Order: sequence, then structure tokens, then C-alpha cells
Amino acid sequence: MGHVDTGKTKLLDCIRGTNVQEGEAGGITQQIGATYFPAENIRERTKELKADAKLNVPGLLVIDTPGHESFTNLRSRGSGLCDIAILVVDIMHGLEQQTIESLNLLKMRNTDFIVALNKVDRLYGWKTCRNAPITKAMKQQSKDVQIEFNMRLTQVITQFKEQGLNTELYYKNKEMGETFSIVPTSAISGEGIPDLLLLLIQWAQKTMVKRLTYSNEVQCTVLEVKVVEGHGTTIDVVLVNGVLHEGDQIVVCGLQGPIVTTIRALLTPHPMKELRVKGAYLHHKEIKAAQGIKITAQGLEHTIAGTSLYVVGPHDDLEHIKEVAMEDMKSVMSRIDKSGEGVYVQASTLGSLEALLEFLKSPAVNIPVSGISIGPVHKKDVMKASVMLEKKKEYGTILAFDVKVTPEARELADELGVKIFIADIIYHLFDQFKAYIDNLKE
Ligand code: GTP
Ligand code: MG
Ligand code: NA
Repeated sequence: MGHVDTGKTKLLDCIRGTNVQEGEAGGITQQIGATYFPAENIRERTKELKADAKLNVPGLLVIDTPGHESFTNLRSRGSGLCDIAILVVDIMHGLEQQTIESLNLLKMRNTDFIVALNKVDRLYGWKTCRNAPITKAMKQQSKDVQIEFNMRLTQVITQFKEQGLNTELYYKNKEMGETFSIVPTSAISGEGIPDLLLLLIQWAQKTMVKRLTYSNEVQCTVLEVKVVEGHGTTIDVVLVNGVLHEGDQIVVCGLQGPIVTTIRALLTPHPMKELRVKGAYLHHKEIKAAQGIKITAQGLEHTIAGTSLYVVGPHDDLEHIKEVAMEDMKSVMSRIDKSGEGVYVQASTLGSLEALLEFLKSPAVNIPVSGISIGPVHKKDVMKASVMLEKKKEYGTILAFDVKVTPEARELADELGVKIFIADIIYHLFDQFKAYIDNLKE
């Protein structure tokens, strides 16, 4: 977790040997991601630091969250999924707004975390020591670099103190648990990555042995709904607890009501690959938590991302599970303006829809919403939005975030005079809409 552009995705890229960050629209993360790091890879990456480290856990499932201010809901969801967090701070910027927001989420849930003090390579005169343990890299630096590092570190420690938290460089930290550890890192040249991984594993093994023994009750969140060639509509999920099997009967929250279906296939990306990025998949008969999984099944088209998945056991009451599955939808419906006047808002997932609604509601933006939908813009959405044209022309508008517009919908919109603004960055929608209103006023 952490403020926008502190290097969360880049750190994962550095560990995975991937290039996910450069493929992101505007270089910002707008979805939750998931990657499995097997213990073997962690051992390889940490052997220079400690060759005989005991690794009792099979690996780590790492979740990536957006830092942009609009995605508080996804940070909240991400922090709710994790056993331990990495709070990423840019050494050149110190604690920023969403660092503090993330801190508050972690405090609220009493979640342990490690601070990655990232971008140390940006210290003036930094000498690259690719993938080196941080103390080794630090010894290579000139006096000036060390002085600047210490000055910035002290500032960050003071800022944490102002938030009521004690922090210390991890190798000087004698009271882990009361004092949070700081690991200096670079996502570009890899210094400190061995330290970060080893500390994560050691801390997890030391403090969470009991909590980590997995329980049988399935706890599973839908991250994304995606059409994949050869598989139809699939859902990406994070399985936090329990086991999923091929053939399990499941219930998910759908736009038009609960969806009851059967798991056709359980797929995962290869280890060290990001679930949210298209790639080759491995098939499984069953999967034990924790894992990021792509599920294929019939009838998933209207699944709403961000909701929970339920497995129907032999003695379960299906009707009750269907009711429980639909509860997540209630909070977002309550965001719609009671006056009935406002723009029509459409997004790819419940998570991004919530983010967009949150953004539109903020005082600086303040655009009322009369209708919502998830998925591509169809003719029916244009029809619904067109109702506003008679009440307030500017509200006869669809703000479409990260979704496609069907050609038929586009044609109908032109005919009726409904404006459709599309963007893959939330605040660009506001800019377009504002320019449109200003234009109307003139
Ligand atoms: P959001 O997901 O949008 O919140 O951002 P993020 O925290 O995932 O940051 P991201 O990985 O997108 O990195 C932001 C920018 O900082 C990119 O241009 C990276 O190349 C750069 N960057 C990240 N880590 C480092 C680092 O350790 N050193 C330097 N010099 N640049 C970095
Ligand atoms: Mg990112
Ligand atoms: Na970014």
C-alpha cells in the first residue's frame, strides 16, 4: 500500500522480473493485482543475505493496490485481504496523503506492516549495487550520500512519530512488534529487495504461525470480470481461506441478482506472474488458499467485481446464500442521488464504480449521479441517460470509466443528443465534463 507513484508496482516488477508498471494507463494502478511468490524464488533472491534461512511457508501471495486518491475503496479492500502489509514510502517525498490514509486503514484492522523506504537510488550520487542487501549497498556509498540518507530517514521517522508510530531501520530494530521496521529499497536497481523479502518471511513465520494455518471456511473475493478468448467470461478471485474444487457449486453477486453456477475450470497464472495481466494459465483440480485464481463457469457475465464468492456445501441453504451474496451491492446503490437528477455513470468493476462515485461526490468535483451501470455502454444505458435531457441538458451525459461503448449505443447517443465521455483515468472524466458544462454556459 502507499501513496500514488511511490513504486509499489515497480517493486513487484523488480522482484518478478516483469514490466507490468509500464503497461499501465497513465502509469497508475487502477485495479487490485495478485502475484504468487513461491518460497524457492524467495530463497534465490535472499541467499546473498542469508543462505540458510528457514522458509516454513510455501510462499507469499502479494497483492498490489492503487495509490491514487480515488481508490480508497480498493486500498480498503486490499488491506482487508492481507495478513501483513508493505507500506511503500518515497524517500524523496516522505509521508504523503495516501500514506497516512493507508496507515489509518492498517491501524484500524490492527495489521502488521513493514515500511519500504523506496527510491534510494535517487539520492544524489547513489552508486548502483544491483540487487544487493541494503547494508552492503550502503557501505559502497560516499559520505555525502550516507549523510543525505540519514537526514531523510530521520525526517521520515519523525513523520511516523507524528502519526503516533515508532519506526526504525530494520537492522537496528530491537523491539519488532512495537517498533515498525523500515527497509530502504530501490525498485529500479534492486538494492534492499533481499532484505524486504527475508524480513517479510521471517516476520510472517514468527508472528503468524497460528493465524496462517488455513481454515476450511471459504473466504474469497472477486477482483475482476474478464472475457478471455477460449474461456468466455471468467472471474479473477483472491482465495484467502479454504479450498476451491473444479465442479463446486458457487454463488456470486450479479447485476441482475445472485448468480448460481458451477466451477468449470480453476486457472492460475504461472508463479511470479501478475494475475491482472493476460498470460498463459495453469489448470488445477483444486486450489488451497492463499492464491489468486481465474475461475471459468457459465453465466458469469453479470458478476460484480469487488464482491464475495460463496461455495454451496451439501447442507447449505441456497436461498440464504443468495441473499448474503447480494448484500455487497446495497452500499453502492445508496450512493445514487435521491433527487433523481444527475449524470449516468458507468465503470468496469464495482470497485472502480465505487471509486468514481467517491470522486464525483468530493467537494471539489461535486457532480450528482442519477444512474449507474457496470460493464460496456449499451443502448439501454443511453436510453436511461437520455431521460435527463429534458430536466437538465448537461446531465444527459454518460461518464464511462474504463469501459467500451457499443457501436449501436454510440449511434443512439448521437441521435438523442446524449454525451458520452470515456476515459481510462478517473480525473480525465471530470476535465471533459467540466469543459462541456463551461461550453454550454457560454
Ligand atoms: P500507483 O499504483 O499508481 O499508486 O503507483 P505505484 O506506487 O505502483 O508506483 P509505480 O510503480 O507506478 O512507480 C511510479 C514511478 O516511479 C514510475 O515512473 C517508476 O519507474 C518510478 N519508480 C518506482 N520505484 C522507483 C525507484 O526505486 N527508483 C526510481 N528512481 N524510480 C522509481
Ligand atoms: Mg502501482
Ligand atoms: Na504509478
